[in-house]
Amino acid sequence: MAHDKKIIVGNWKMNLDVHEASLYLYQLSKLVKVHRDVEVVLAPTVLTLQSLSLQVNLRQFKLAAQNFYWRDHGFFTGEVSATQLRGIVQFGLVGHSERRHIFNETDKEVRNKVAAAIRNHIRPILCIGETAWERANNETHDVLHDQLIGGLSNITSEELDQVIIAYEPVWAIGDGQNANPDDVTKVVGMIRRQIEHLYGAAAAESIQILYGGSVTPDSAAAYFAIPGIDGLLIGGSSLDARAFNEIIEKAHKSSAETKKE
Ligand code: 13P
Repeated sequence: MAHDKKIIVGNWKMNLDVHEASLYLYQLSKLVKVHRDVEVVLAPTVLTLQSLSLQVNLRQFKLAAQNFYWRDHGFFTGEVSATQLRGIVQFGLVGHSERRHIFNETDKEVRNKVAAAIRNHIRPILCIGETAWERANNETHDVLHDQLIGGLSNITSEELDQVIIAYEPVWAIGDGQNANPDDVTKVVGMIRRQIEHLYGAAAAESIQILYGGSVTPDSAAAYFAIPGIDGLLIGGSSLDARAFNEIIEKAHKSSAETKKE
């Protein structure tokens, strides 16, 4: 089943302070048109989420946390929980490769975070992807399999429709070397087959899958053309209002074209 809404997520990572983020949201809000077939989600640093949640027009943009802790409350100095983010964000990134590889986040933490998000009415965007080394050694299939099983093993079939999967090959993030759309087509097929194995054919068809990794306005359309890609997770280009808006417009155009077919 093709989804009628494309999801475009801008991951601002550790950029923009409170004032810059507010100004940037204002600039984006002037530029970005609301389209019924595109959901635009912004993932600023946690510091800015509360103030942006008061500023944002939720018809135009939803908000996502880039990370959170999986326990709801307690003695966890420096952490912010999904319970505390509830009502402020609608989405939460989980297991981004920068968290897995720089902060050594494990599949156990990832699975607890996916469950914490769902428990707190936040849609988890579970990020998975292979490193350059794993790719060169033909391990992509096994890595994605392990990350999917690792991330979803606390999740029931009923809860799965809240989950979004983001395929971000680690080697394609941040360095301009975006993945070949033919390769992404194969990987998305692989992910859907793995979901089918875990949750059945209907779930495999309906789960939303995003691609992320060095997407620019020039490369975006090729990913929207991939059957089974429901949107994009954008890093660098999401910090350039014109580029981000161009990607949103391309998402709208591709949804409109799919509807005509
Ligand atoms: P880039 O678009 O900068 O490669 O970042 C991708 C990413 O990590 C989004 O989460």
